[in-house]
Parts: sequence; structure tokens; C-alpha cells
Amino acid sequence: MASKRLRKIIFTIALLAFFCLFIKWNFSGICILCPKKGEVISFKRDSGNFLELPHMDCSKNPPFLVILVTSSYTQSKERMAIRETWGKLKWIFNRLIVTCFLLGTTLKHDNQIDINVENVKYGDIIQKDFIDSYYNLTLKTMMGIEWVHKFCTQSSFVMKTDSDVFVNTYYLTELLLQKNRNTRFFTGFLKLNEHPIRHILSKWRVSKEEYPGNTYPPFCSGTGYVFSTDVASQVYNISENVQFLKLEDVFIGLCLAELNIKLEELHSKQTFFPERLKFSPCRFKKIVTSHFVKPHELRIYWNALERSMDEKCPGS
Ligand SMILES: *[C@@H]1O[C@H](CO)[C@@H](O)[C@H](O)[C@H]1NC(C)=O
Ligand SMILES: *[C@@H]1O[C@H](CO)[C@@H](O)[C@H](O)[C@H]1NC(C)=O
Repeated sequence: MASKRLRKIIFTIALLAFFCLFIKWNFSGICILCPKKGEVISFKRDSGNFLELPHMDCSKNPPFLVILVTSSYTQSKERMAIRETWGKLKWIFNRLIVTCFLLGTTLKHDNQIDINVENVKYGDIIQKDFIDSYYNLTLKTMMGIEWVHKFCTQSSFVMKTDSDVFVNTYYLTELLLQKNRNTRFFTGFLKLNEHPIRHILSKWRVSKEEYPGNTYPPFCSGTGYVFSTDVASQVYNISENVQFLKLEDVFIGLCLAELNIKLEELHSKQTFFPERLKFSPCRFKKIVTSHFVKPHELRIYWNALERSMDEKCPGS
């Protein structure tokens, strides 16, 4: 009798342990802070002031390309690696390329001091007062777009990417110059036929309340998309009329659909990769983005790429 009970208890504990592990694995996927049933949120433009602004004057030195990188307090290693590699202020084909980091806030006052010090030193941080979390990524992206609209309409193109992405700024600049499109242009890794994920434990879960439709509008993977600067102002302007969605890339897609801006390929061959590519200098010369790159890898790849700039590759 006692052993039967014991077995029951052990079984229950094992089950609980397994459940806890499962929850832990999927923790970021549980929608604890999602809107409650029936609660419709529309995007609020202009909420709050900028806490940090980059030290640059777009009217004096208009960039050809502004790269906005979503980042957070804890990712200072990633930011340093980007500053030393593809994010270096750079003239490419005589065009100015600048990189800025998009940050929210943490609850610790000391962290804010660190960020302030970092921005005094590097002058490349855009920050507003919202809690930095995965589900606030739309706020972060829209903050970048608001900044472009208010401070940098003199630029020609804007890219939004993440801090674990390798960006070949040389090839991107070359392709943008070739493409020679300057209005209503939007490109990246095109996602033309995506559906909301309803699975309760998925990181990308979207409930019927958040998004009732069965398909998403065309959008580009948030790992890297590029648009002509006029699109920033148009998206900013329309964003208040668009139902808020925590998936930033889909939200931008919803804005583009409203604006009737079509997505386009940058090149006949694929150049934006939302996945991780195996590095080789010749491969990376002909791509724009590759995902899941660690800071030390970024340095290795970038140095190898720059060293091999003038070397011939097979088939080129
Ligand atoms: C997003 O930021 C706002 C403003 O700081 C905060 O109230 C909210 O809890 C954050 N949302 C999430 C999901 O962290
Ligand atoms: C902003 O959006 C409104 C409609 O929401 C539109 O009437 C207006 O022309 C837009 N302005 C710009 C500058 O795009």
C-alpha cells in the first residue's frame, strides 16, 4: 500500500519536473503579458521623449544608409563587435553608412547610467522609456522609425536588423546603388504567405484576439530589411491606424499593406538569409545578411571578408 503511494508520489514529482522543464524551455513563449481577451490595442505614436539620441546631424552629413540595430542593456558585447566590424562609420563607394542601436529601459537606475556613459562615448544609441522585452520589439522598431522621421529624413535608405546578424554593408550598398530606387522601396527576406502561429507554447504565438485573420500580409523577416527613407515617414504616419501586433516584422507588413507598398527582391539571387550560413569569404561577399552570429565570430568573419576584398572568387 505504502509503496504504491510512494510510486504515485514519485510519478507525480517526475511529471511535475518534466512539466517545469518544458515550461522553462518555452518560457519566452508564454503569453503572460499578452492583451486580455477583447482588449484591442492600437499603436500609440509619439509616446514619451527620447532618453538618448545619437550624436549625428543628418542635415549636415546625410547618410546614404542608416542601420538600426535592435539591442538591449545586456548586449554590450554584441554592440562592441558591431562597432568594430560592419557597424563602423564608413564611406563605401563614397556613400556614408551609419549604425545606431535601439534600446529600451531596464528597471535598474544604474543600468541607465551605463547606457548614458556608453552613448557619451560612442554617440550611437537611440533610446526611449519602455521596458526592454521581446514583446516590446514593435515599440523598439517604431522608435527607430520615429527617429528617422524626425531626425534623419535626409538619408536615402534605412535598414532594420538585430544584434546577432552579420551585415555585409559593402554588398548591400553596391546592390542599392545598382537598384537605384529611391521611393516606396522595401526589401529583405520576403515572407509572402505566413500564417499566425496559434500554438500556446510558441514564442511567436498570436491569439485570435491579437490577430483574428488566418494569414499575415507580406512582410520581410525582422532579421534584416531595408527600405527607402520615405517609407519611414509613411509607416510612422499610418502606424496609429494599424492594429498593434507584438511581432514587429508583421506589424511593419500590416503598415505596408495599408500604404499599398509592395515588397521587392533586392537581387535576382537570394542575399538576405534569416538563418545561419556557413562562413566563407567568397560566400559572404555575395550576401547581405546571415543570422545567429556571435560577437567573436563577427570579428573573424568581418576581418576575413575585408582581407579578401580584392581576391577573385570562383564564378565571379
Ligand atoms: C512594454 O513597455 C511598457 C512601457 O514601459 C511596459 O509598461 C510594458 O509592461 C512592456 N511590455 C512588456 C510585454 O514587457
Ligand atoms: C498621413 O496619414 C493620413 C491618413 O491617416 C493621410 O491623410 C496623410 O496624407 C498622411 N500624411 C503623409 C505625410 O503621408
